[in-house]
Amino acid sequence: MKMRKLIVAVPLLAAFSFLAFYGFIFFQVYKFNQAAAVPLYEVGDYSEAKLCQECHEEIYDQWQQNSAHAEANNNPRFFSFKDKVTGNFLTNIVIGDANCYACMGPRETVEGVSCEICHGLPIPDVDIMVSHEQKFIPGLEDLKKPEFCAKCHQFPETGEGMSLYSEWQESEAAKQGLTCNDCHMKEKDGLAYHGFDSLSRLRDAERYANDLDIRDFDLSFPKFNLVIENLLISHALPPSGPSRILVLEISFLDTAGSEIHRIVQPFKKQFNLLPLVGIHPFMLLENTQLQSGEVRQLSFTLPSSLEGLIDRAALTLKFYDVSDEYTGDLSKAHWVSEPFITEEVRF
Ligand code: HEC
Ligand code: HEC
Ligand code: HEC
Ligand code: HEC
Repeated sequence: MKMRKLIVAVPLLAAFSFLAFYGFIFFQVYKFNQAAAVPLYEVGDYSEAKLCQECHEEIYDQWQQNSAHAEANNNPRFFSFKDKVTGNFLTNIVIGDANCYACMGPRETVEGVSCEICHGLPIPDVDIMVSHEQKFIPGLEDLKKPEFCAKCHQFPETGEGMSLYSEWQESEAAKQGLTCNDCHMKEKDGLAYHGFDSLSRLRDAERYANDLDIRDFDLSFPKFNLVIENLLISHALPPSGPSRILVLEISFLDTAGSEIHRIVQPFKKQFNLLPLVGIHPFMLLENTQLQSGEVRQLSFTLPSSLEGLIDRAALTLKFYDVSDEYTGDLSKAHWVSEPFITEEVRF
């Protein structure tokens, strides 16, 4: 009799402990995510950017055309990740889309991180210039600090994940006293530039002229060697992750100009944003980013069948926007930049 009771009790106890343990962790993650789901901006009645556009035409255009802020909650990358979170029963309960909207701009608008998200909402029922005196103008001092940008560009819980702010804190740029805005909002036509120069929007090539150097090409068949250097003093390249990839493409051509071989070399920081809920919220999978100031020697072995056939190589560097599930298929990218470095090497 006693033995039979034990046979029932032991598995029951084990099952109960297991459920209690995961229930506890689940609850902690849930609590953490509920706290993180509080919007990082003022919530209320949005007037939308058109109101500010009336008098701040130039700033509006820069933001609208160049800044990824303007479409943060309204682009394929955003939707694919949001659908992934809400499409799974567990992650929907634990995380939900509130976390997405906490950073990417309110659910109520499709303007992403707009004027009012950063500068605050106009005070209701008074002339807009009163809001200027009482909020917008005094507020500027705080907005100029990197800690303001850090509200959204720092995710401490991802460890060495998506934390541009902590990356900046340790950078040469910070040592030289350069803040986020000294680079990203550097004055243009007398105004703080609001294009922020998003890689996925219009990219002001002049601003980024000195980001990467690629040199020392050497064909010692079957080896092809080169050196790539990240000249940025503020960020690794590509900055952040996991959806942005930097890709070096090398096309080897024969004397007739036909491509006889192609190398595709991605640089990326990939981490799983949604592994087993409650066990490990973020997990770094691979990091081949070029660190700030890093000089990297690359060496490729070419197939022996190419011996004597290679006349020249055409190199390009581009940014690709992929989903966080990227596994190597670049044809699935949401967006590809224009090549920002092109180089032809004759042998
Ligand atoms: C009716 C015209 C008008 C509208 C609408 C308007 N502004 Fe302004 N804004 C101005 C003028 C004029 C100034 C310059 C005022 C000054 O310097 O005293 C200004 C200045 C500012 C400044 C500070 C500039 C500085 O260097 O001190 C900020 C920030 C600002 N506006 C934000 C906004 C935002 C955000 C909106 C939309 C919610 C907005 N404005 C809508 C006319 C407008
Ligand atoms: C991502 C946050 C962010 C967004 C979005 C944003 N601003 Fe700003 N804005 C700032 C910061 C930060 C400054 C101060 C920049 C500096 O001086 O370094 C600023 C400065 C300004 C100024 C003063 C410019 C000057 O040089 O005198 C105006 C005017 C302004 N913003 C209007 C707008 C309008 C209009 C929009 C929407 C079209 C907008 N901002 C969107 C962060 C933002
Ligand atoms: C010394 C100048 C400099 C400073 C300081 C700086 N950045 Fe950047 N940042 C850049 C450049 C340049 C790029 C783009 C690299 C390229 O196109 O090659 C970039 C890229 C970015 C990106 C694009 C990320 C992506 O996924 O495409 C973000 C976001 C960003 N910076 C945020 C910040 C924040 C936040 C700070 C402050 C904590 C900061 N930056 C400080 C120069 C700077
Ligand atoms: C309310 C949240 C929020 C604040 C505050 C904020 N950002 Fe952003 N920022 C975002 C989001 C969301 C994106 C778009 C990310 C995406 O779609 O990949 C973005 C994109 C960017 C990019 C371009 C990255 C790209 O995708 O090409 C730069 C550069 C940038 N931010 C700089 C800044 C700087 C500098 C500040 C401080 C003045 C700042 N941001 C403040 C949320 C914010």
